Order: sequence, then C-alpha cells, then structure tokens
Amino acid sequence: MGKIYAILSKKGGVGKTTVVINLGAAFAESGDKVLLVDLDPQNSLYLGIGLYKEKLESGSFNILLKNVRPEDVIKKTPFQNIDIIPSGPVNPYLEWKISSVSKNLDRLKNWFEYTGVKDRYDYILIDTPPTFNSITGSAVVASDAVMITVQSEPLAYRTLPAVFVFLKDIKEKLKPTLRVLGIIINMYDGREELMVQTARVLEQKYKNIPFKTKIPKDLNIAEALAYGKPVIYHEPGSAGARAFRLLAKEIKAREAVLEQVIKK
Ligand SMILES: Nc1ncnc2c1ncn2[C@@H]1O[C@H](COP(=O)(O)OP(=O)(O)OP(=O)(O)O)[C@@H](O)[C@H]1O
Ligand SMILES: [Mg+2]
Repeated sequence: MGKIYAILSKKGGVGKTTVVINLGAAFAESGDKVLLVDLDPQNSLYLGIGLYKEKLESGSFNILLKNVRPEDVIKKTPFQNIDIIPSGPVNPYLEWKISSVSKNLDRLKNWFEYTGVKDRYDYILIDTPPTFNSITGSAVVASDAVMITVQSEPLAYRTLPAVFVFLKDIKEKLKPTLRVLGIIINMYDGREELMVQTARVLEQKYKNIPFKTKIPKDLNIAEALAYGKPVIYHEPGSAGARAFRLLAKEIKAREAVLEQVIKK
C-alpha cells in the first residue's frame, strides 16, 4: 500500500510545490510509482510539471465535492513513473464552496482508499495552499504523515508553532495516527550566517524532526520549475538534483526506522 504525504507550510513561497515535484521525481527515478496531487487552487503543480498546454477538465477539487472515477482525474506526465491529479478548473465560487464544507474532511482519504488508488502507487505526495482551511485539512486527514517545508530564516521558522497547533487539532479530532515525518529546510545557503544559525536553532528545538539533508538555494531548481521539469531532468548533476535524491533516501531510511518501532 502506498504512502500518502502532504507537504505543508504556513508561509507562502517556501517551496512546497518545488518539493512535491522534485521529491516525487527523485522517488520515481529510483523506480517508485508516484502520484502528485495538487490541492492548491493556483494549479502551480500542473504548470510546474510541464502540462500548461493541457486543458483542465477535472481534478482534486471535484473529488472533494462529488464522486469521480480515478481515470477522470489522474493524468500522465511526460516523466516516467509520475502521474498527477491537478486541482482542476478552479473558480472562486468552487473554492469558497469547498472551503466551507468543513464536515467532509475525510472525503479525499476515503476516495484514495475505496478507489484503490492508494494501492496503485508507492508514494502519493499532496501539494497544499499556504493556508489552514478545510482544503489543507482534507490533505492532512488523507495523509499517513506530513512533511513541513521551511526556509532557514527567522520569519519562516516562527510560523512553525502554528503548523503544530493545526496538526494537533486534526490529530486529536480526526486522525489519531497522524505523524510528522520531518521538516524540510529549503533554499539553504551554508555561506549565510543567519541561515546556519537558524537551522541550528531549528535542530535544537525540534530535535530529530528536521531532515539532515537541506535543499540548497540553487538556480537550477527555480529554472527547472519555470521550464516545467523536475531538476533531476533539467540538470541531473546539480546540487539541487543531488539534494533531492539524498532527501528521498533519508525519507526511506526514516520510514524503515518507524516501521521497526511499530513492529517492536
Ligand atoms: N531550493 C530552491 N532554490 C532556488 N529556488 C527555489 C528553491 N525552492 C523554491 N524555489 C523558488 O521559489 C519560488 C517559490 O517556490 P514554490 O512555488 O515551490 O513555493 P510554494 O511554497 O509552493 O509557494 P505557494 O505558497 O505560493 O504555493 C519558486 O519560484 C521556486 O522556483
Ligand atoms: Mg505552491
């Protein structure tokens, strides 16, 4: 059965979409079957994976509102082992309607299970908007665990407690098995003293939660997104590509440890 992870942040522009595409591509490169799911009404995942010419007929937002078949919403991407569910043709009315249906937070979770989509993939990565509404709530309820993206700068890191309050609330009320798999430090530059210090504070405060692999600030990553490609296809040997491969390995190692703990 596949693992479902939502990628969250309270602050916008810290790299959630970048992480979903590039981490997904790193898993796919090592042979995993990957489904990327966009729950952000901006549809940036769809654009970021190079499908901007394709007409959007339906997507994840339709799943949140009615019964749809997997074949109606899952699309192939130009990249091997990577499929995608875009958010779909979203308009402000639809977005408002979804964000106001807060009692249906388990719709997406149930859909992954009863359609069998969860069994068809090794990894399902969900991109979320930088707001904590019922759309992001649906992503969290559908997930086995979440990963939080931050930039190593004081403002980004100060938004973390709000993320944990949101997750605690969902864990207590709706999803007792919810876990935080890790914090991903993105756009890191080891030459900037403030970033180094902030990363240290994060590691002290949140103990083993931040991944050891930090994603560097690398123009290749931004360029790849602009060209609609994962960085491992755009510049396979770049620092950014190497970091995402390492992060994928670290995640697998962390999953293995958690499985051991559960078996004991
Ligand atoms: N490691 C990186 N190195 C260089 N540029 C990066 C890196 N990560 C992200 N970016 C760039 O930063 C910008 C914001 O990234 P992204 O869109 O992934 O953030 P986001 O958290 O999904 O934003 P939003 O909250 O609006 O959805 C993009 O232009 C992206 O190319
Ligand atoms: Mg985004």
